[in-house]
Amino acid sequence: MTTADPRVAGIPAGLAAPGTTGAPYRPLLPVEALPSGTMRRVSLGDLDVLLAHTSDGIVATDDRCPHMAAPLSLGALDGCAVACPLHRGVFDLATGETLQHPTTGGLDADGAVHPTWTPAGSEPKPDPPGAKADARRLTRTRRIRFYPVRIADGVIEVALPVEVVPPTHVVGDR
Ligand code: FES
Repeated sequence: MTTADPRVAGIPAGLAAPGTTGAPYRPLLPVEALPSGTMRRVSLGDLDVLLAHTSDGIVATDDRCPHMAAPLSLGALDGCAVACPLHRGVFDLATGETLQHPTTGGLDADGAVHPTWTPAGSEPKPDPPGAKADARRLTRTRRIRFYPVRIADGVIEVALPVEVVPPTHVVGDR
């Protein structure tokens, strides 16, 4: 890393992704492909990694919303807050915590129950009946888990579980 390289954000205590202790770093993306305030998805086999250049620095996590797995790379990044495109959940990439619970309600990371809610200016949607309502109510929004990041020779490298294959493609420019 040089003094010109962007900062790498730290991983909140206890929120390193499983399998990353001692995992090899893999080159994923040139730093110039991830300007400040942007996000990109890098796919390795069936693992979709989100690279985000937040106001705290670069982070890597799964490109799956911690609510119902929508691609966060299609959402909006504001500082360290990423807004999911699906149910208006907002998540803090500095802490791994939920800033705004999804509209569908459900459980938070500690198991507390959150009701459904309707954004201002929208018509309230009736709760779906039966198993669908139960599934919403019992869906737990977990804390975000992070992959270790480093920058080497102008390339963003991420420590990933060893079984993943080399990068297959990169999408997104947000
Ligand atoms: S899938 Fe992201 S808020 Fe529901």
